[in-house]
Amino acid sequence: MMNQGMVTAAYIIAAILFILSLSGLSKQESARRGNLFGIAGMALAIAATVMGDAVTSYAWLIIMMLIGGAIGAVLAARVQMTQMPELVAILHSFVGLAAVLVGFASYLDPNNQLTGAEHTIHNVEIYLGILIGALTFTGSVVAFGKLNGKIGSKPLMLPHRHLLNIVIGVICLVLLFIFLGSGIGAGTFILIVMTLLAFAFGVHMVMAIGGADMPVVISMLNSYSGWAAAATGFMLSNDLLIVVGALVGSSGAILSYIMCRAMNRKFFSVIMGGFGNAPAASGDDEAVQGEAVGISADEVAQLCKDANSVVIVPGYGMAVAHAQHPVSELTTQLKKQGVDVKFAIHPVAGRMPGHMNVLLAEANVPYDLVLEMDEINDDLGEVDVVIVIGANDIVNPSALDNPNSPIAGMPVLEVWNAKQVIVSKRGMATGYAGVENPLFFKENTRMLFGDAKDSVNAMLSAL
Ligand code: TAP
Repeated sequence: MMNQGMVTAAYIIAAILFILSLSGLSKQESARRGNLFGIAGMALAIAATVMGDAVTSYAWLIIMMLIGGAIGAVLAARVQMTQMPELVAILHSFVGLAAVLVGFASYLDPNNQLTGAEHTIHNVEIYLGILIGALTFTGSVVAFGKLNGKIGSKPLMLPHRHLLNIVIGVICLVLLFIFLGSGIGAGTFILIVMTLLAFAFGVHMVMAIGGADMPVVISMLNSYSGWAAAATGFMLSNDLLIVVGALVGSSGAILSYIMCRAMNRKFFSVIMGGFGNAPAASGDDEAVQGEAVGISADEVAQLCKDANSVVIVPGYGMAVAHAQHPVSELTTQLKKQGVDVKFAIHPVAGRMPGHMNVLLAEANVPYDLVLEMDEINDDLGEVDVVIVIGANDIVNPSALDNPNSPIAGMPVLEVWNAKQVIVSKRGMATGYAGVENPLFFKENTRMLFGDAKDSVNAMLSAL
């Protein structure tokens, strides 16, 4: 229906829309527009691909698109905001699996006429596509399990695990050369062996990474899924898929780098795994000293009224409690009473990059009140009241002063420097990294126990 020239033109427009989408998504103010560009680009890309001359029969295509589209729509409509990271993880696994399947299909394609160097290059593309796809697939499935709690967040430490990884890597490299010299029968067998090895590698890689490093893992798998898609693009000689794969791959890599910096971690030590598994005993004894003192919502409301400045630190618990709307209302009320209210956002607050920003934007909190950790950390000493709402790891002082802590070295919001700290959470449970938090026992800390939404609503009625 569309000739090759039209398809190429549509692909170029789609690629530009994707780039505009990415640049839009980098700022909250333009994120909605960025999303629209992305949707338009993807619609155009699908339409051009479907109408291109590579597609000869529409029946299967339409049936599969309807099934896939329906499953996607139902899942997206049902998913809770707190389950978003899991959804993203499982979607990465689909990209990986698709790359594996396309790789095998491309290898077994009877219409493949390539010879000589082109044939070899094509086979390398197939091999790499399947390799990256397979480890992205199982790695993402394990990440999904770790995020929703079906798999424990503790890193799995097999004996000689680095050696094991290196051996798998070397075998895959050797197999590549044997594969290139093989006919279709032996070649298929080698591909299957390599796929199984890559599956095992993906599982092992993510199992070895501890709870506190999960943010990096998610963005890393995001990047891998991009490279898998790019490899698939090479296999299918589809330029748009190459461009899109490279965009996802490199933006995911940049995000991984940003996440590592935010957590003060080296990328390689994250991949090597084992973080979040420090000897628990020594650090924790220190932490549980003293007693946590409770406070009522009325008292907190009074404290805020009397304060000149209030800083709110949201965390995963605010997302769980859906407390962002009452928090936004609280901000409005306090501002009306002349209190200076700001938000302090830790780069890994919640369960995905930008999690808190999205929730606050949804609740119409003005962007200029929302500050990043680096912008506000040094000023927290001047603040009268800090209210921590459902956050834990990101305000844990032991990250700075206890070298044995599993999160040692991670920059945190130094809320304890404020005159008064209020922590709103349900009980004394630990956060994602599973570490005790000495903040709760500090002299200037008061615990506002209960569901965050109920607590903030109670403060609102007191105000
Ligand atoms: P967490 O350290 O996970 O702490 C959340 C706290 O919220 C819990 O201690 C919990 O205590 C409380 N909570 C749960 N439900 C609540 C409710 N309904 N009302 C009030 N409180 C509630 O969260 P954080 O401080 O945002 O830190 C994020 C953590 O997740 C970091 O360790 C980070 O590495 C990890 N992580 C982040 C990402 C990204 S990219 N952001 C991805 C994966 C993992 P109670 O049970 O006592 O209420």
